[in-house]
Amino acid sequence: MARRRIVCLPGDGIGPEVMAEATRVLEALPLELELSSHLFGGAAIDAVGDPLPPDTLAACRRADAVLLGAVGGPAWDGGPIRPEAGLIGVRRELDVYANLRPAVAEGIDLLIVRELVGGLYYGARGTKDDGTVFDTCEYHPSQVERVARRAFELARTRSGRLLSVDKANVMETSRMWRRVVTALAPEYPGVELRHGLVDSVAMLLVMDPGSFDVLVMENTFGDILSDVAAGVTGGLGLAASASLGDANPGIFEPVHGSAPDIAGTGAANPTAMLRSLALMLEHGLGEPALARALERAVEEARRSAPTPDLGGRSTTSEFGSAVLAGLATEVPA
Ligand code: NAD
Ligand code: IPM
Ligand code: MN
Repeated sequence: MARRRIVCLPGDGIGPEVMAEATRVLEALPLELELSSHLFGGAAIDAVGDPLPPDTLAACRRADAVLLGAVGGPAWDGGPIRPEAGLIGVRRELDVYANLRPAVAEGIDLLIVRELVGGLYYGARGTKDDGTVFDTCEYHPSQVERVARRAFELARTRSGRLLSVDKANVMETSRMWRRVVTALAPEYPGVELRHGLVDSVAMLLVMDPGSFDVLVMENTFGDILSDVAAGVTGGLGLAASASLGDANPGIFEPVHGSAPDIAGTGAANPTAMLRSLALMLEHGLGEPALARALERAVEEARRSAPTPDLGGRSTTSEFGSAVLAGLATEVPA
């Protein structure tokens, strides 16, 4: 098989720290890979004044998969260009509309499917003459349909239950969302579709996370509920994601940000990054057996080399070394 191209976008804060551990793992895997690292986020603003430089975007387009750390931080807050604009831009350019955010812990195994390239993040925004500031939530039915189909398909491979989350009691976009999702249900007879309002779903995620399987929702609801799901399954240090489209390479990134409060201290838990790498092995490179081996090695490291967020004292790189040691017993080099 041809060498597969992996584009790494370390970004800012703990992004490069957790990316370093992912790189060590990638180099140890029995795969023919071509790894390259590119400027992105605040680091790219500092170097070339653009959070998503054209060279970086071109490399992403040519890649088999994109692995992303995190962007942002106080250094760029209030500046004219934000690192986050690079993230929002690369998602749109690669049209990765389905963001899979699994949350797994004892008795909990849920999957949030977050629409990623529409809604408030991409709608019209601005300031009116009278000083009123606005962001608009816009969705075309086709944007809802494609992400809902992904969610139905994923639900079919799991327990066969799909919960569509909206705010149809208030929002026009939500009422359309509910109509579109409902109209698709007959095409997926093995899947039991239910609808829930985002506020009460947020409460239930905290009170009874074990009752959920696959959830699908628009961009902003998914941003917020995926941090809630992370919070009830061990924290942001553990939460991974895969952003998938149809034709372009997927983007694989932790749910967490650049964690300015711990950046540079060696306290970052690389689990979220390494689980994102496992999602890349599975969904981006078609290597599910290696994905499972990596997940097992990460679980083992969680017990043998816990980082401070898990109540331990191991550093980011000590955790990474434990993962590599575990992987060596599973995978022939
Ligand atoms: P954050 O996710 O960076 O941090 C929230 C809390 O979780 C912090 O206390 C942090 O220390 C902790 N945490 C996060 N990741 C961790 C890890 N791997 N190990 C241990 N602890 C971890 O969120 P924030 O502080 O609200 O945002 C900081 C910056 O990150 C902002 O500029 C924001 O825009 C950006 N951000 C970027 C992304 C991304 O690049 N995908 C995602 C979220 C936030
Ligand atoms: C995430 C982040 C991003 C988002 C920000 C940094 C743009 O919070 O990936 O969850 O809101 O999508
Ligand atoms: Mn978020």
